[in-house]
Amino acid sequence: MTVTVNHRQAHAWNGPLGRHWAAQARRFDALLGEADEALFAAAAIGPGDRVLDIGCGAGATTRAAARLAAPGHAVGVDISAPLVERARARTAEDGVPGASYELGDVQAHPFPPGGFDVAISRGGVMFFDDPVAAFANVARALRERGRLVFVCPRAAGPGSEEGTALGRFARRLAEGTERTPERDGDTLAAHAAHTAMASLSEPFRIHAALHRSFTRIAVDPVDVHTHWGDSPADAVDFLLSRTPRRSVPAATRAALEDTLRPYATSRGVRTRAGVWLVTAVRRDDARA
Ligand SMILES: C[S@@+](CC[C@H](N)C(=O)[O-])C[C@H]1O[C@@H](n2cnc3c(N)ncnc32)[C@H](O)[C@@H]1O
Repeated sequence: MTVTVNHRQAHAWNGPLGRHWAAQARRFDALLGEADEALFAAAAIGPGDRVLDIGCGAGATTRAAARLAAPGHAVGVDISAPLVERARARTAEDGVPGASYELGDVQAHPFPPGGFDVAISRGGVMFFDDPVAAFANVARALRERGRLVFVCPRAAGPGSEEGTALGRFARRLAEGTERTPERDGDTLAAHAAHTAMASLSEPFRIHAALHRSFTRIAVDPVDVHTHWGDSPADAVDFLLSRTPRRSVPAATRAALEDTLRPYATSRGVRTRAGVWLVTAVRRDDARA
């Protein structure tokens, strides 16, 4: 049974945005993957654990959790049908029997009460219209003293490397291509999803979302690098894949590569970015 309350997010993640994430799943895993070390170290998933992965996307973290939890299991829940489909396909390819997926809106999903030992998320928790209700629903899904561990973006300050690089890229793209004003429902929904990415970027918002259902809340900064591609040309391909209908002249493409060249390293095009690592424990009085 699927119950959806976050309709704008459902629209976005089941439209072009979700299909883009599904098609480019390996690139997004490379982009976000440096946060996994902190996430999994804090989650301390062990054999026999039952893990919930909130907003699991194409399921990379669900599969990693399932491997650590064996003979336990990991269940990824996501509002996006294209991403759940991709997660299932990749899990079949990789052969991870302990990982499974459910299509659902985590804010309202009918989880088995107390059915999980730990809930994790790599950037899948910022998209709730009512974060207090959503985290209460996650708490109900956890057993007594069950733990919650997630990473979410920190506010990118004006001088942040990632913000500077992407800002230059966006300005160069706008200068070098025809502006195609798109005001359709898909574009507006994708805008809502991008805006929501920052909804927990201030620690007080994280505390406000969690305090009713969780205790021992810790919010720690972790510095990571985001990986945009193996080379400037590859990173431009990835960044332009977000707007496939936009036609980009060769001279603009070359200029876009130049904006990313300062970040090219022997490990690819990487920019410094920051996430919050959040850990918490279900409150005793949060009802399962
Ligand atoms: C930034 S992506 C991160 C995906 C994945 N955790 C990863 O690391 O690749 C955010 C994910 O949250 C999902 N999502 C957004 N709102 C949701 C909701 N209310 N319930 C469940 N999933 C949601 C999206 O479909 C998307 O897969």
